Amino acid sequence: MAKRNSSSTPRMSGARSRRKAVYPGTFDPFTYGHRDIVLRALQLFPDVTVAVLENPQKSPVFSLEERKAIIRETTLGLNGVEVDSFDGLLVDYVRQKGIYVVIRGIRAVSDFDYEFQMALMNRRHYEAIETVFLMPAEAYTYLSSRLVREIALLGGDVSGLVSPMAERLLKERANRMKASS
Ligand code: PNS
Repeated sequence: MAKRNSSSTPRMSGARSRRKAVYPGTFDPFTYGHRDIVLRALQLFPDVTVAVLENPQKSPVFSLEERKAIIRETTLGLNGVEVDSFDGLLVDYVRQKGIYVVIRGIRAVSDFDYEFQMALMNRRHYEAIETVFLMPAEAYTYLSSRLVREIALLGGDVSGLVSPMAERLLKERANRMKASS
C-alpha cells in the first residue's frame, strides 16, 4: 500500500470544525459579488465567517468599522453569517478559530494565478487548511471593489453593485474630495 505523505495529506483533528468556513478579504468595500459568494458558501457550510483584514498598509478607503458595518448590512437576514476581523497571517487566524476551510471567489482565469499561489502558500504554513474556490453569478464576474471605488469616487453610479450604506459613504467621500480640490 502506498505510504501517506504527511506533507501533502491533511491530519484531521476532532477539534477543527467541518461546519465552519472563513471568507477572508479586504472588502473595501464588500460588494454584491461578495454577497453572492457568501450565499454559495452557505449552501456548503452552515457557518460562514466573513473576516476582514485590517490591513492599514493598503490604505483602505473605508475604516475597519465601516467595512464591517457594510458587510453586516449587505448580509442582513442571512442565517449563519458572522462578521469578524483579523490582522496578521490568515493561517494564524483560522488556526486560532479552529477552522480549516477558507472560501475565495474566482471571477475569471486572471484571478486564478494569485489565488493558487495564496492557497498553496497558506497550506505550506498550515497543512490542514483547504481553500474552496467558488464562482459568483455571471452578472458579478466584472465586479470588483477597486472598480466600485474608482467609479463612485469619480461621481459614477454604483447602485445595484454595493449596499445603500456603501453607496452613501462613497458619495460622502467623493463630495469631500471634490470640496477639497
Ligand atoms: O480581498 P483581497 O484583498 O484579495 O484578500 C486578500 C487576503 C486578505 C485574503 C490576503 O491578502 C490575506 O490572507 N492576507 C493576510 C496576510 C497573509 O496571510 N498573507 C499571506 C498570504 S499567502
